[in-house]
Amino acid sequence: MRDAAPKTIYLKDYQPFGYDVESVELVFDLVPNATRVRASIRFVPKPEGDRNFFLHGEDLKLISASIDGTSVSPTISAEGLTCDVPDKPFLWEAEVEIDPQGNTALEGLYMSNGMYCTQCEAEGFRKITYYPDRPDVLSIFTVTINGPHPVLLSNGNPTASAHHSATWHDPWPKPAYLFALVAGDLVAHSDSFVTRAGRHVDLNLWVRKGDLHKCAFGMQALKDSMRWDEKVYGREYDLDVFNIVAVDDFNMGAMENKGLNIFNSSAVLASPETATDANFERIEAIIAHEYFHNWTGNRITCRDWFQLCLKEGLTVFRDSQFTSDMRSAPVKRIGDVIDLRARQFAEDQGPLAHPVRPESFQEINNFYTATVYEKGAEVIAMLKRLVGDDAYAQALDLYFERHDGQACTIEDWLKVFEDTTGRDLTQFKRWYSQAGTPRLKVEDSFENGTYTLTFTQSLAPSKATPEPAPQVIPIAVGLLGVDGREVRATQVLEMTEATQSFRFDGLDGRPVPSILRGFSAPVILERAVPEGENAFLLAHDTDPFNRWDAGRTLARQSLIAMIREGAKSDPAYLDGIHAVLADDTLDPAYRALMLSLPSQGDLATALYDMGETPDPDAIWRARQNMQKALAAHLADLLTHVFGRHQVHEDYAPDAEQAGKRALTGAVLALKTRRDLGAAAQVQFNNASNMTQKIGALACLVRAGRGREALASFEAQWRDDRLVMDKWFALQVIEANPDQAAGTAERLTRHTDFNWKNPNRFRAVLGALVMNHAGFHAADGSGYRLLADWLIRLDPVNPQTTARMCSAFQTWRRYDTRRQALIAEALDRILATPDLSRDTTEMLTRIRNA
Ligand code: TRP
Ligand code: ZN
Repeated sequence: MRDAAPKTIYLKDYQPFGYDVESVELVFDLVPNATRVRASIRFVPKPEGDRNFFLHGEDLKLISASIDGTSVSPTISAEGLTCDVPDKPFLWEAEVEIDPQGNTALEGLYMSNGMYCTQCEAEGFRKITYYPDRPDVLSIFTVTINGPHPVLLSNGNPTASAHHSATWHDPWPKPAYLFALVAGDLVAHSDSFVTRAGRHVDLNLWVRKGDLHKCAFGMQALKDSMRWDEKVYGREYDLDVFNIVAVDDFNMGAMENKGLNIFNSSAVLASPETATDANFERIEAIIAHEYFHNWTGNRITCRDWFQLCLKEGLTVFRDSQFTSDMRSAPVKRIGDVIDLRARQFAEDQGPLAHPVRPESFQEINNFYTATVYEKGAEVIAMLKRLVGDDAYAQALDLYFERHDGQACTIEDWLKVFEDTTGRDLTQFKRWYSQAGTPRLKVEDSFENGTYTLTFTQSLAPSKATPEPAPQVIPIAVGLLGVDGREVRATQVLEMTEATQSFRFDGLDGRPVPSILRGFSAPVILERAVPEGENAFLLAHDTDPFNRWDAGRTLARQSLIAMIREGAKSDPAYLDGIHAVLADDTLDPAYRALMLSLPSQGDLATALYDMGETPDPDAIWRARQNMQKALAAHLADLLTHVFGRHQVHEDYAPDAEQAGKRALTGAVLALKTRRDLGAAAQVQFNNASNMTQKIGALACLVRAGRGREALASFEAQWRDDRLVMDKWFALQVIEANPDQAAGTAERLTRHTDFNWKNPNRFRAVLGALVMNHAGFHAADGSGYRLLADWLIRLDPVNPQTTARMCSAFQTWRRYDTRRQALIAEALDRILATPDLSRDTTEMLTRIRNA
């Protein structure tokens, strides 16, 4: 049971642990509800260390404890234990009993479908044994697992194995959050890799027998990641084996445990028949992400959890570079910015706003956020843009050389850039300490061949940042002539003042500016764009990101007029998209992105931003009307584009084929508005890959003609959990707003709704939140259903419950009636007895907005 009054932890209170941990030996005797863990830990007092000996421990039954062989009786609390210890090096031995079978929180050692697995980040190791469970305590682990399972895995290299027993030794000092153990009846898809230095590495992807045909792609992604990190960052792998395990019950995507990555099966298993192109791309990125953590996270780790962005921001940045190299860089960039604006900007504008490096928390699990991850990656992208590619490479070399084996801070990270470049990064550091999204106002003038851009930056004061100061903003700008040709190539302006002007001399005429190219900083651009300029940029911008963004702006403005006053869709937008779709020189994937509309959530944000109260039903209707208008306006192209971009070769999940399927998929959605599902039905019947199958199914459901297709899909895939997750989610996401909550509720009564499985829970309840107008149904049915299920899930799995509470973070945007209904839902959850610390923190922050 947890504290009644949760404690707040502050960055400023950081104190090092008073002891070094020389070595850790663990022996596990695996029994589902009574696993024994014996720990032998060598502690060495630090010369000037704090002598307060405290070991974390939660939900542990202490069987015995001794120091240097003499039995001791520690003082035990709900959080851990204290004990009198000698003032010299000593051996701590303890045996505890734990209950993996009863562990539904999926943190610590737990069971998933008969297999044992662990999740220790951030603070799960304390549920396995008593230990200084903090990232700045590094040690060398030797682990013996005794159990009847054919496969027994832990970190590092295998050193011994016998019947029903295996021993692993990890030579690299690591914090406890990187510990992992797996035991089960698993089979491996195996391969090998030879590092640049000639080290031979065995690679294994461990899965349940029936999943062996879904491993090839993940394995290839792993090998590509290993090669890429050698080539681009000069980083090699450092053990003889690299194991990945797929687990069905997992709270997040995956975890970078040293030498033994554990993956949510949805983040690694894929075959053409069962996974979409988007799934393949995501899997490739997550495999890369976890692999890249071996250097950015494991070899160099975090001093404390406030420094989480040190490993996560950097590793997200690295995996985005990888994807850009493997696939299309502009398409990756546009996708990332769509995601950043939807999730991170929303976080920044609401009650959950926090800096990239937070300064306090109650439950660290609640800070694995879009701000820490995605904005954290943007900050690194800006740093690279400011210092240049060469200096970035040098700084990273210095980072790895100087800090290998250490637990570091953002100060350490910035110092390597300062030492490499001689720059003072004091002001840049505000990107780590100030919460909120800066707004960048732009004004321009033209006189005697000189074009002047004047920028004014502002950051709204918030609870997290009451007195914001100007930040360093890299603004990539190019200038176009009236004929659409570039008259000034992209250049990065470095803004440091609150207001600052930049001049471009020697121009023949007034140029059209293309500002914030490639989304060079995570800011909101505010500019009164002259009539026709966005249409011009949509037609001519040489920067693919800004060209796309011009189209997006036109779409948004037109949709907002439609929402507000029932206007007709903007012909300039429709014509611009027509030209883009007709242009066969453009990458199909890029054209597919151009066809997508801002989401309902984006439109709600935009309206709120302009001081208005978003009406979810009006937003939904306007998008429907816009899609109809697009379908009509593009009618002459649809059949041609659809036919021309069909893939006739064998399925491959590469960028080229995926791009064609993305385009034909977007076109099919528009065609369905005209033929009421005829083409979709044909594609559904004939599709041999999941991308086209599920794409067609979505069209049919949207057109109200999905009943039979849904039934046949279910009959075909009932035994495949990952595919069935799609089946559940699709019905809720594609439901008409007035039926979304009802559909979700009906699905929660389906026999296969295993709500304790996070993927399945999210497939229904997470999908409800994605159906914006459905979740915000005026009668409150969406709020009530989500609240009911969060109340039910919280005692079982606090971490997933708390994450899903963010569905309510935007509640102050809506009308008073909806706010009252949401308040009722929030209060009902908050009034639940014994609500977890995770959920309490999230809901308290949200409720007090
Ligand atoms: N470190 C993991 C990653 O980003 C994230 C993660 C996986 C995680 N499982 C977790 C974070 C559980 C908190 C709790 O790669
Ligand atoms: Zn990560």
